[in-house]
Amino acid sequence: MMKQTARRQMAEPGFWAGVLVILCTLSMGADVHQALKTPSMPSRVLQRHKRAWKWDKLYVNEEMPPKNPPEKIGKLENTFFNASARYILSGEGANDIFTVNDNGDIIVNAKLDREKKNVYNLSASLINITTTKQIDHDDTFIIVVMDINDNSPVFPPDVSGSISESSKAGSIVMTVKATDADDPTTQNGMIGYKLLNGTDLFAINNKGEIRTLTSSLDREKRSQYLIAIQAKDMPDVSNTGNSATTIVTININDVNDNIATFKTGEYQFNVKEDSKPGYEIGKLKVEDKDEIQNKDPSFTIQHKFDEVFGIKLSNVKDGILSLKVPLDYETQKMHKFSVNVLERTVSKSPDNQGPKLQTRAQVFINVIDVDEPPVFNQTEYKFSFYEGPFQNPIIGAVSAKDPDKNGYKIRYSIEDSNCPVAVDPVQGYLSLKKQLDREDKSSYTFQVTAQENVTNGLKSYALVNLKVLDINDNAPELTNRSYVYVCESDKPGTIIGTVGAYDKDENSGRFRFTLAKRNLNFSLYDNGDNTARIELKQGGFSTEHSVEHVLEIEITDGGTPEQKSINLLQIKVCTCQTGRRVEYCMAYTRTGMSVSALLAILLCIVTILVIVILIVLRRRYQKEILVTKSSGEIHEQLVSYDEEGGGEMDTNGYDVSILSSACHDSSFRPSTGPSLYAVVKKPSACKGDMAMMIEVKKDEADHDRDGIPYDTLHIYGCEGSESLSGSLSSLDSSSSGSNLDYNFLHEWGPRFRTLAQLYGVDGSDSDSSD
Ligand SMILES: *[C@@H]1O[C@H](CO)[C@@H](O)[C@H](O)[C@H]1NC(C)=O
Ligand SMILES: *[C@@H]1O[C@H](CO)[C@@H](O)[C@H](O)[C@H]1NC(C)=O
Ligand SMILES: *[C@@H]1O[C@H](CO)[C@@H](O)[C@H](O)[C@H]1NC(C)=O
Ligand SMILES: *[C@@H]1O[C@H](CO)[C@@H](O)[C@H](O)[C@H]1NC(C)=O
Ligand SMILES: *[C@@H]1O[C@H](CO)[C@@H](O)[C@H](O)[C@H]1NC(C)=O
Ligand SMILES: *[C@@H]1O[C@H](CO)[C@@H](O)[C@H](O)[C@H]1NC(C)=O
Ligand SMILES: *[C@@H]1O[C@H](CO)[C@@H](O)[C@H](O)[C@H]1NC(C)=O
Ligand SMILES: *[C@@H]1O[C@H](CO)[C@@H](O)[C@H](O)[C@H]1NC(C)=O
Repeated sequence: MMKQTARRQMAEPGFWAGVLVILCTLSMGADVHQALKTPSMPSRVLQRHKRAWKWDKLYVNEEMPPKNPPEKIGKLENTFFNASARYILSGEGANDIFTVNDNGDIIVNAKLDREKKNVYNLSASLINITTTKQIDHDDTFIIVVMDINDNSPVFPPDVSGSISESSKAGSIVMTVKATDADDPTTQNGMIGYKLLNGTDLFAINNKGEIRTLTSSLDREKRSQYLIAIQAKDMPDVSNTGNSATTIVTININDVNDNIATFKTGEYQFNVKEDSKPGYEIGKLKVEDKDEIQNKDPSFTIQHKFDEVFGIKLSNVKDGILSLKVPLDYETQKMHKFSVNVLERTVSKSPDNQGPKLQTRAQVFINVIDVDEPPVFNQTEYKFSFYEGPFQNPIIGAVSAKDPDKNGYKIRYSIEDSNCPVAVDPVQGYLSLKKQLDREDKSSYTFQVTAQENVTNGLKSYALVNLKVLDINDNAPELTNRSYVYVCESDKPGTIIGTVGAYDKDENSGRFRFTLAKRNLNFSLYDNGDNTARIELKQGGFSTEHSVEHVLEIEITDGGTPEQKSINLLQIKVCTCQTGRRVEYCMAYTRTGMSVSALLAILLCIVTILVIVILIVLRRRYQKEILVTKSSGEIHEQLVSYDEEGGGEMDTNGYDVSILSSACHDSSFRPSTGPSLYAVVKKPSACKGDMAMMIEVKKDEADHDRDGIPYDTLHIYGCEGSESLSGSLSSLDSSSSGSNLDYNFLHEWGPRFRTLAQLYGVDGSDSDSSD
């Protein structure tokens, strides 16, 4: 039972502490049993006053090769130690690098390197040799590896810095930082810096900051310095310690401290006179020692010449001389002017100074003669001319000259043959070829060509704009003469409509409206705004009376010469509902149309009718010749007309003539269509009674088992090109117009009432029998 309790307690974390406590209490003469029964005791017992282990840190020097006999670096001491006890080491490097002997001496067996591991954490315990039981609790201690100066400073690779030229003395260029693996808290790990050369320009302090000693660094003289720097540990002790050197690159940055100057005092260029504006004449090379981003030259051209020439900067900040306006050899063969160059931004007083600097240059431009096309004295010509007849056809003149020194004569022409204007080839006069009509085309634009009078002479063109001026040559017209009507119910004084006028001419003045003929029934009032209203004087109109009402309206335009016109306005008589909503109007085919015109139309209609009748009659006559006349023909026709047939499309009709012809011509075969009845046997008796034949056919059909029961007989014969039955039209049944019945015209409605009246009651007025 006790064993079980002990084993269970061994698993608990406080067990070993408990064991120690027991050991301690044993040594103090305490009761073991009592201690075992009180496992909560250790915390109290650990606060003992007497210290069992006695040591502090142990130190060992690095890089010391193992000695023989091995070097003792310290001793473990415990108050419980005596001959029957032994120390046991554990932890980092225990029993390998560090061992302990029977006396408790700690011995180093290997060479240590502080830079790899500077502290070893170990623990020691004390056990009874005979019982192998622990006598005292474990205790930890550390072994510190002592530094020796066995490492040199190390510079990072590629150290470089930069500073602007002309910087003040004392400006920091850069900071270099070397590293030393040795203990930085000792001199072994501390670093001091020293410049090995370049000490006239730069200095370095122990932080590694490189400063300038002078303000006269000049990139244009020297843009880069390489200086050697030494870093040494043990800075406070001269002649000892480890050191390293490196070469540091110091770049001098550019500032704009040089002004641009011309490379030469004279520039010469040749320019053709036909060079276009924008043409680059050439380069004015300048010199500026600064880097390109610090070149900022600006050019000024001598006054007046800057209107002809311009300068812009090239990629490399040279001046590019260009043309602003075309040059003319004939007026000036040579241009000479000066150009100044000025550096716009200079950081301070520039490095290059002095009166000898070339900031002004002379430019000579030789203009080279080229053969030039003619030049019109205007680029565009504008002329105007009145429309209508003219006495003098000249509308103006164009003029061009050959600008060359020995100028050629100029020949003018107009290439567009549709142009209504011709040009005098020598003088340049423009003349009209024909009368113009503003109402047709109000302006013309065309090109006049001027060409040097030599073979392949140079050409140039000018635009001519001809405006056609208006004369008042058009009479005014009614705008909307279509629909003025009077209602049967209109009372006197009703305004039955408004008319307006228009005029094709330009800016026609105010139109004035008057009645050309006095009218008893209507009056016209000028509204004063280019319209006039029509007022009813007296009512009592009726659609029953076929009297036409026409207003003759005279319209004058206010122009000069004054134009006037008389316009007929048809006024319809209508039956209206309330609010003058038209229900039905007397039919006039067209307002303003005269009775004679109406009669002419009617005559046309009659003529067309007669022609149609003649054609139909002729066709019918031809047909009658084709069909062989026999005694049965009357029968057949009777049968055909008896049934109400549908003409050629009527397949229900029984065309006996086919049967009949089949009888006469035994070679007859239905040529098209798989007709059921086409294969039916021919009747044996042909010349016999028709009724009998039909009986035979019926009988056949009744007893035909293959056939579908048909109620009517079908003939699917070959129809042929023309129907034998002829036309059913009633037209051909009449040879004279006296039999024509035009009553249907009444059924066509009120619009055809007039027509019906013409034909209906007394048919004597239309004679169509020719
Ligand atoms: C060692 O010390 C213990 C008690 O501290 C004692 O009992 C023992 O006899 C000692 N042994 C030797 C050999 O001195
Ligand atoms: C040494 O090791 C012990 C136990 O592993 C730990 O408690 C202690 O803090 C360590 N000491 C150092 C200085 O690392
Ligand atoms: C070691 O154990 C033996 C036997 O129990 C004992 O006699 C001796 O005193 C112990 N030594 C120490 C130092 O406690
Ligand atoms: C400093 O010494 C290095 C190496 O010898 C050399 O490259 C460099 O040009 C020297 N610099 C100066 C400013 O003399
Ligand atoms: C151009 O020449 C025509 C014809 O000689 C002349 O009428 C016109 O005034 C001239 N125009 C100019 C701007 O000189
Ligand atoms: C063109 O030149 C020829 C001869 O050089 C001359 O006969 C002719 O009249 C000239 N034509 C015009 C339009 O000047
Ligand atoms: C006719 O034209 C005039 C003016 O353009 C307009 O006021 C009037 O209403 C028009 N009449 C009809 C019937 O369209
Ligand atoms: C006026 O109207 C009446 C009846 O509609 C007609 O008989 C007469 O001829 C008309 N007068 C004129 C001048 O049109």
